[in-house]
Amino acid sequence: MKKLKFGIIGVGVMGPNHLNSMKECTLAEPAAVCDIDKARADLIGGENGLPVFYDAEDLYASGSADAVLIVTPHYAHTPLAIRAFECGLHVMSDKPAAAHKRDAEKMLAAQKAAPGLKYGVMYQLRTMEIYKKVKQLISTGELGKLQRFNWAATHWLRTQKYYDNGTWRATWKGEGGGVLLNQCPHQLDLLQWFFGMPKMIKAFGACGKYHDIEVEDDVSAYMEFENGLNGMFIASTGEFPGTNRLEIHGDRGCLVLEDNKLTFKRTEIPVSEFIMDSRDHFGVPACWNIDIPIKDNSFSATKVIDAFASEALGEGKMLVSGEEGINQVELTNAIIYSIVKRVEVKLPLDGIEYEKMLLNLIAESEKRLK
Ligand SMILES: NC(=O)c1ccc[n+]([C@@H]2O[C@H](COP(=O)([O-])OP(=O)(O)OC[C@H]3O[C@@H](n4cnc5c(N)ncnc54)[C@H](O)[C@@H]3O)[C@@H](O)[C@H]2O)c1
Repeated sequence: MKKLKFGIIGVGVMGPNHLNSMKECTLAEPAAVCDIDKARADLIGGENGLPVFYDAEDLYASGSADAVLIVTPHYAHTPLAIRAFECGLHVMSDKPAAAHKRDAEKMLAAQKAAPGLKYGVMYQLRTMEIYKKVKQLISTGELGKLQRFNWAATHWLRTQKYYDNGTWRATWKGEGGGVLLNQCPHQLDLLQWFFGMPKMIKAFGACGKYHDIEVEDDVSAYMEFENGLNGMFIASTGEFPGTNRLEIHGDRGCLVLEDNKLTFKRTEIPVSEFIMDSRDHFGVPACWNIDIPIKDNSFSATKVIDAFASEALGEGKMLVSGEEGINQVELTNAIIYSIVKRVEVKLPLDGIEYEKMLLNLIAESEKRLK
């Protein structure tokens, strides 16, 4: 069976993990590694018996890969992807698709200018049974018309040591954001998969509230959607024990995801019907607790890469395209914009305006460091 040959660009912490996942693929295989850190490239290339490149241009020109998996710091995703498309290679980018919306749009434009080449983003939590079940319960209408969600993603405690460990981490210039862009992309991708994109975001939060960092580490974001749904997304890297708790309230009850368990508190009749028809002042509808069985709580980068490869080989469909991957970036940017500027943000976000604000934050930070 033909396999898609991948060059893996960036073999720091995450690159080797994806390389190992790729070894389990049926439709993809690692063909080369590339890292500007020569020692790191030599180590990972040597351990895996793969050709090594220190400059992506050399990898692109070598003909050794059909596709690249980009696992570098966020800002580098964009120039590396654009050049890969120009050189005729398919592109998978690790999350986030880019540091900001304008960069993600440039990547999409480069793909559009290279017909036949595929562009996907690594959101491996899409493969988890528990999230697929949430999606299924929403899209089959089991929850009824959606009213509200609360997602507390506060299980991301990070130490100062963690932030001090890489120069690109937790800076506007190096990373482009904090908890939203580094820890929460998977949850924000899932959020837009479940609910679509909001029409408005008003967020509150703080940069460097718990750490000596310049980016956000505390976020409370309120969102409103065209269909009447509203929701809160809360994130922090300074709380413990914290939780990953998603509550979704609909006309047929409430779905709660917490501690890797899924519970559906299902009402016997629609809540809206009960409100109008009940002759009681303080009554509530009958409600059952249903524990939804989840057999497997694992996620699989292997499945994401295989799905991407199947589409690139003309056989199947990838899980998250670049076109969809941009939504997580837009959500992140809109929340940060709202926090920094203290304004309500209407979506779609103006990517040029966001980039202007980001460049200002970078300039201010450079002034501080002088
Ligand atoms: N999918 C996930 O669950 C997941 C988890 C952690 C990190 N990530 C993502 O993976 C990416 C990398 O994170 P990390 O923690 O591995 O960072 P890292 O700093 O440990 O590794 C990044 C590597 O990229 C190399 N690099 C930088 N610029 C390069 C360039 N132009 N060409 C070639 N190599 C280059 C660096 O030398 C370094 O070795 C980020 O986008 C991050 O958000 C994804």
